[in-house]
Amino acid sequence: MKLIVCENYGEMSEKGAKIIAELLKAKPNCILGLATGSTPVGMYEELVKMNKAGEITFKDVTTYNLDEYYPLAPDHDQSYRYFMNHNLFNHVDIDKSRTHVPNGLAGDPAAEGEAYDKAIENAGYTDLQVLGVGQNGHIGFNEPEEELYVGTHLTALTENTIEANARFFASKDDVPTRAITMGMGSIMKARTILVLAGGKNKHFVVSKMLDDRITAFVPATLLKLHKDVILICDKAAYEG
Ligand code: GLP
Repeated sequence: MKLIVCENYGEMSEKGAKIIAELLKAKPNCILGLATGSTPVGMYEELVKMNKAGEITFKDVTTYNLDEYYPLAPDHDQSYRYFMNHNLFNHVDIDKSRTHVPNGLAGDPAAEGEAYDKAIENAGYTDLQVLGVGQNGHIGFNEPEEELYVGTHLTALTENTIEANARFFASKDDVPTRAITMGMGSIMKARTILVLAGGKNKHFVVSKMLDDRITAFVPATLLKLHKDVILICDKAAYEG
């Protein structure tokens, strides 16, 4: 795992955006796996700036997002589809028909998951997967559990995650208790994985990611089995 420790959030966002920009320049029709959460927002802002300045283009890029709350309509202002449109897609020259987020209203979530993985496989898997991490070590919505799923699936959110994400909703009771998330399979098949973790409350996960053990109870530790992971964190997440 390649570790980059930054002074602050701004530097993390710039470093992350630079890595994606380099990929876009080298492979303009690349497949990106994207993440939501507050952590990648600054990086998306940097990418929007570079796109507006004509340094990069998303014209031929295809994207697959990690997850979506369930059940939640794509136009709900807390849906991850809405998040992606408002933080990135609406501001760059991407063809929206090439952007994919699991359908939070799928009548048959198992079939939705299977079709989502198949689409990623048919696209040749992602060139780069962006990940944030939950305070409990979840990636996407793969929550700490004895057994993790390989495929995209419907999952129940833990109390810790519901509490952490309540800040975005009117109240904790409004946070959906389930989500459709990419499983570990499509994440681990990405050619490169870019993890962003900032702030003291991510220190636990960052320290677990940097020791020499893996556990499904901290799903982010499984990334150690991947040969090309870049972890960008700030001093607060690194030092605690
Ligand atoms: C959500 C998302 C994750 C994200 C996590 C951390 O639970 N499903 O993909 O990594 O939040 O969010 P934040 O970056 O706001 O700490």
